[in-house]
Amino acid sequence: MRMSYLGKREVNITMKVGFIGGGLDSAIGSAHFAAINIDRKYSLDAGMFSIDESINFSSGEFYGVDKNRVYANISDFLSAEQNNLDAVLVLSPTPLHFEHINHIFDAGIPVISEKALCTNGKDAEVLARRATSENKFLSVTFTYTGYPMVREIKRMISDGILGDVLSVHVEMPQESFIRSSTSGTKPQPQAWRQLDYEIPSVTLDLGSHVINLLEFITGNQVARVSGIASHAGDVSALVDNVLAIGELHNGTPISLNWNKVSLGKRNGLACTIYGSNGSISWEQENPEYLRYGAKDGAIQIIDRSHAMVKVAAERRYQRFKVGHPAGYIEAFANLYHDIAEDLTSFKAGRKFDNPYTHSAADSADGLRVLEALHESAAKKEWIEIRR
Ligand SMILES: NC(=O)c1ccc[n+]([C@@H]2O[C@H](COP(=O)([O-])OP(=O)(O)OC[C@H]3O[C@@H](n4cnc5c(N)ncnc54)[C@H](O)[C@@H]3O)[C@@H](O)[C@H]2O)c1
Repeated sequence: MRMSYLGKREVNITMKVGFIGGGLDSAIGSAHFAAINIDRKYSLDAGMFSIDESINFSSGEFYGVDKNRVYANISDFLSAEQNNLDAVLVLSPTPLHFEHINHIFDAGIPVISEKALCTNGKDAEVLARRATSENKFLSVTFTYTGYPMVREIKRMISDGILGDVLSVHVEMPQESFIRSSTSGTKPQPQAWRQLDYEIPSVTLDLGSHVINLLEFITGNQVARVSGIASHAGDVSALVDNVLAIGELHNGTPISLNWNKVSLGKRNGLACTIYGSNGSISWEQENPEYLRYGAKDGAIQIIDRSHAMVKVAAERRYQRFKVGHPAGYIEAFANLYHDIAEDLTSFKAGRKFDNPYTHSAADSADGLRVLEALHESAAKKEWIEIRR
């Protein structure tokens, strides 16, 4: 008998989960639903999916959830389900995360939350402190770190393949606040995205990923930043264009930018690392490939089957063989696979130190960097990150 490429696969649903948000009226809900189902480790059993009553129930039906376990409000959801679920996924708008996560913590259920964790560093620190002092589980879904090639970059930097890291550049240009429809209609993002908070909305959406990716691949934290923030697009007077330079703790120079006013860029998340022995570039829209520039001038395109690759060649990432591109949903599934391992350890009372998952403390740290960057933009000064 010919086995699947992943070898013998078993249905091993260990995590019963519920959603808050993520209804059919949301941007991200169906991506989470697809991702949790890929490795058959989770079942979606309950939820309050939408604030719209009819969409709430149609979402439950679409996701295959018993209609008696679809709830009209969060209090009813948590009190009815607190002994039935292994985790609640928080997929509601970012400004609601703080309230929702505190509520789930109070109900004693582990939390898996979308980024950005909160709209400011202070609230995120409160959650991080609660997680530590009250032994609560909170893991944050920074999706892009689930790409095998991003994990390969992390490995290449830590193994010294690039030599000394001379500079790191991460960008996330998008076009959603400036691109019109073909009939000329201006962009219409969700109402909560049309407001700036303690940290501007564009930075919560995109800057949180940029800082997370930077610190994830380098294994180092930002020490100081100098930023510029401006408005150019068609959505009220929001900040929509952010650029910064800075330094990691080891002195490595960094450059960062994110914006929603780059016509032609659907989701241009990309990074380049220049080292004394080689350079690596990766683009989210072409995620299966790295571009490697060697010391002798050779330029190579590296995929999952290349001899240099170690992490991305692991069996777990070969859902189908190289040459058949995996993408965003599979990256999400990889992260969910790692979160399930953490959750299993947590439930068994074991410590876990997974290099691929993101704690509340990691997220709070990222938000502190982003606050410092906007403080720098306002004061036109360099700002040291408080830690
Ligand atoms: N990791 C990524 O790549 C990625 C991409 C997009 C969005 N996100 C994050 O996911 C979260 C949701 O973003 P989105 O774009 O899907 O938002 P959205 O506005 O499109 O959807 C929000 C969902 O939450 C529901 N909702 C609103 N208020 C609620 C409440 N009080 N209780 C329960 N449900 C409520 C809505 O009905 C809807 O289903 C945000 O934190 C965002 O930053 C992450």
